[in-house]
Amino acid sequence: MAVGLAGFVLVVLPGLGVCLASGPGPVAEVEAGGEAAWAEPWDGAVFRPPSPLGSVGVAHRSGSAGPGWEEGLDLPVLLWWSPGLFPHFPGDSELIECPRGACVASRDRRVRGNPRTRALLFYGTDFRASEAPLPRLAHQSWALLHEESPLNNYLLSHAAGIRLFNLTATFSRHSDYPLSLQWLPGIAYLRRAATPLPERSEWRRRGYAPLLYLQSHCDVPSDRDRYVRELMRYIPVDSYGKCLQNRELPSPRLQDTTTATTEDLELLTFLSRYKFHLAFENAICDDYMTEKLWRPMHLGAVPVYRGSPSVRDWMPNNHSIILINDFESPQKLAEFIDFLDNNDEEYMKYLAYKQPGGITNQFLLASLRHREWGVNDPLLPNYLNGFECFVCDHELARLEAEKAHAASPGDTPAPEPHIAQPSHMNCPMPTPGFGNVEEITESDSWKEMWVQDYWQGLDQGEALAAMIHNNETQQRKFWDYLHEIFMKRNQNL
Ligand SMILES: *[C@@H]1O[C@H](CO)[C@@H](O)[C@H](O)[C@H]1NC(C)=O
Ligand SMILES: *[C@@H]1O[C@H](CO)[C@@H](O)[C@H](O)[C@H]1NC(C)=O
Ligand SMILES: *[C@@H]1O[C@H](CO)[C@@H](O)[C@H](O)[C@H]1NC(C)=O
Repeated sequence: MAVGLAGFVLVVLPGLGVCLASGPGPVAEVEAGGEAAWAEPWDGAVFRPPSPLGSVGVAHRSGSAGPGWEEGLDLPVLLWWSPGLFPHFPGDSELIECPRGACVASRDRRVRGNPRTRALLFYGTDFRASEAPLPRLAHQSWALLHEESPLNNYLLSHAAGIRLFNLTATFSRHSDYPLSLQWLPGIAYLRRAATPLPERSEWRRRGYAPLLYLQSHCDVPSDRDRYVRELMRYIPVDSYGKCLQNRELPSPRLQDTTTATTEDLELLTFLSRYKFHLAFENAICDDYMTEKLWRPMHLGAVPVYRGSPSVRDWMPNNHSIILINDFESPQKLAEFIDFLDNNDEEYMKYLAYKQPGGITNQFLLASLRHREWGVNDPLLPNYLNGFECFVCDHELARLEAEKAHAASPGDTPAPEPHIAQPSHMNCPMPTPGFGNVEEITESDSWKEMWVQDYWQGLDQGEALAAMIHNNETQQRKFWDYLHEIFMKRNQNL
């Protein structure tokens, strides 16, 4: 994991006469057991992770493994620039059929300069300012897929960074191809019956805490441990992951995160004994919601949540989760959980969405109904192929509009540029999980790591934008900044 300046590398960009900082390295979030081995029977089907790098599956054109390049001689080419993310197999290019027409998807970087290459596709986690394909070609759109939080790349959470792109697929509902419900397979997932309350009350009597915390990735932008540590002063929390651990899982099999992943059925059954699950996203961004939110609901526990500030918009009804930010202090939150813990009728109101007719949020229902990609749904594309087709269709439409404009410039205007907006990845500067940032010492690892990452992301985004727009003032400013940091580092050695 990149830790502030320790991960700082100077890279000279050939021919550009300017240096760039390579950003935070790719930080894969490895939660307890990892997220790669999702396998949970529910409603008779197996739910696998929606990660584009995981086992979502690969689209094949039936009966053809052909390279596609020759087949589609006049078709637009979409070039996957990020290595390792090419949703076709085998070969380096493939003809794809989309609603509006066909394109060629390729991962062969040699076609970058080709006039037919209309779009470059990037995976956010891998995107580095220092490795961006420059100079940028005017006829090409840049498309960004980034379903993860900024923990993996803060550059994209700054206006200068996100505006480098034309099309986005992010967790935000404002994105061109929104992935907000990427961790929710469907309504049935929410409706699964909860472990009966008497059974869970029995576990309480046997000494289980009301609250569960299961987290093994401890130092994250949302600074969750600092809050939980404070909360633990007022109410018992059973913590099984590496962060703030105070209990052991009941069997060696469950303790071994390689066998018992976070989606292991035996582990889930164990977790469902708890009435409340502490559910903190690793970063706070509008519409960034993950399994940390949906899994407790699946299991019939009440999430005690901090994450997307707009999470309420997506909830099955207006009384299904507890929002940490509604409470003025951890102590007040603890008092409320204690109240619900001792009042079954009030507690059960939080599970009303599991009853027939209990899901009343029309926005949620409509979003699930209308999304064009599926989570492990054999009838729908996964969102990686789905986004690829979205870009293909966009480029076909753009070509058509350009042609119409060329044919009669007087009557038909040239197509307007389409530019991504900061709302597509709205993640403000990290704030402490508890307390004020001024009260936290400079040597605090969270502060050192994430606040710095945030500002480095800004510098990288601005530097890259300046190079693309050839803004010498800005390049000079960035160079001074790098120089300063470099000098500081040398002094510390
Ligand atoms: C929550 O939903 C119930 C039932 O639809 C409604 O009566 C109530 O006014 C809602 N409360 C809020 C705060 O929206
Ligand atoms: C793509 O975005 C850039 C800004 O980053 C803009 O200058 C360009 O015109 C856009 N291109 C298209 C085809 O919309
Ligand atoms: C160059 O960048 C500076 C600093 O961000 C900005 O004030 C200025 O307007 C930019 N110039 C151009 C031509 O974009």
